[in-house]
Order: sequence, then C-alpha cells, then structure tokens
Amino acid sequence: MHTYRIGEHVTVLNDHLEVPGLGFLPVNAFVLHAREPVVVDTGLGLPDRDFVATLSSVIDPATVRWIWLTHPDRDHTGGLFALLEAAPHARLVTTFLGVGLMSTERPLPLDRVYLLNPGQKLEVGDRTLHAFRPPLFDNPATVGFYDDGSRTCFSSDCFGAPLATSELASCMDAREVPADELRSGQLLWAAVDSPWVHNAKTDRYLQTVHSMQAIDSDVILSTHLPPAIGLGTQLFDMLADAPDADPFVGPDQQALQEMLARFEPATAPG
Ligand SMILES: [Fe+2]
Ligand SMILES: [Fe+2]
Repeated sequence: MHTYRIGEHVTVLNDHLEVPGLGFLPVNAFVLHAREPVVVDTGLGLPDRDFVATLSSVIDPATVRWIWLTHPDRDHTGGLFALLEAAPHARLVTTFLGVGLMSTERPLPLDRVYLLNPGQKLEVGDRTLHAFRPPLFDNPATVGFYDDGSRTCFSSDCFGAPLATSELASCMDAREVPADELRSGQLLWAAVDSPWVHNAKTDRYLQTVHSMQAIDSDVILSTHLPPAIGLGTQLFDMLADAPDADPFVGPDQQALQEMLARFEPATAPG
C-alpha cells in the first residue's frame, strides 16, 4: 500500500490486485481530513496487509471520528474491526443492511453504528457529507457521498477500471491513463461489477447518472480508479453507455484448467 494526498482535504490509501485476464485493479481507501476526520472504507484483508498501520502513517487512528463503509464487500472491510478497536471514538456509518451483512462475520457493536440512507446528510464539524447511491454498485448496502467542503464525490465501486499495469493502478491521477483505455476499462468493470445494468430500465438508470452529474463535483474518487479530477464529462458519458457495453462472461472450468496447465512446472528430463 502507498499513501498520497490530493489537495488539502483527502489522503488516498492505495492498494491494488492483479485480476487474471483483466488487469490491475486499484483498491483505494481514503481519509477525509474534516474537523471530525472520516476514514472511507478499510482496504483489503490479505494477511500481509495492515490497514491500521498504513492509516497510522497518515493520521492518529485514535482521532478518527467516522468510518464510512461504502459497502461491506471484502475489498472494503479488511481493516474494519481492527480500526474500530484503534479508533474508540469512531462511529461506523453504514445502512441497516450493511450492519446485517457485517454481522454474519462478527457482531457489530450497535452503539458504534450510525445508520445513514441515501438522501440523508452527515455533519462532520466543518462540512456536510451528502449521502447518495452511485449509479453503478454491486452491493445493495452501497452508499457514497459528496463532500461539500472539498467538492469531492466518493463513489464507492462506481467508475472503477482494471488497468494495464500496476504502475497505472498506483498512479495519482486518472488522466495518466490514455482516454480510450480508461473508457474501455470502465465499461468492462461496469459489466463485471454491475451486470444488472444491461437489464435495468435505461431511462430510470440514466436518471441516476444525471442526478449524480448534477452534483457538479470537481473530483470523483472511486475505490477502484486513480483520482479523477476534471474528468466529469468523459466519466458520465461512459456511465451513460454502460447498459450497451458487452456483457461479461468470466472464465469457465476449461479456461481455468488451461490457465493452471500453463503454470505447471516442466517435467524433469529422463
Ligand atoms: Fe463491491
Ligand atoms: Fe469494491
């Protein structure tokens, strides 16, 4: 993992995963440096990752007041329980369903939970966070938000893209990705992560795209994309085309066996 700051308001905690056949998928968590500091998602839970240690290089975890879990998928919850211990004053922002899903792994202390639905607001001292459901999502507990202090949208999985190299997955600006590569990666991700988009009523779906676009944020942050600054038009055009993207079909057992055969060590001669 590495961390970097964008502007005065946000630090990115960047990680990535190599997805066979697809590319390198960024996995970001964030710190919003509000008067009441907010940690957005908590990274991967792989054994060699230590989310709280990485976070400690950015902020004293004991000062964290809010942990905004955009949704309880496992690439977002890696450091959650460790952070709840390290940040005793923090409340976990999620939904009723989010609590239910997390409770299948470990009971959540309900006095640490703060239930917030799309359309509601959270005051964090010097700014207001406006909760909304992003147009694309893979989990019904998903809630992103717009921070009116930094004019930044935190969009959870929406806008993600597997990228060609680990360097691109770790880069600090989505504009480093060639525009056509960014678009094709995002449309692929839309089909992988939100396959329902091919079957939804297009006009209803487009309404959600337009209402997010109307927020008119300067920065769009996705868990699975380098920070997107000034890319609004390009990104919302891509979202509008997602229903017509090629549906994704993953590798089947035969493809897996062929893949594994390529990794088998050559038999020793004689
Ligand atoms: Fe997800
Ligand atoms: Fe995700």
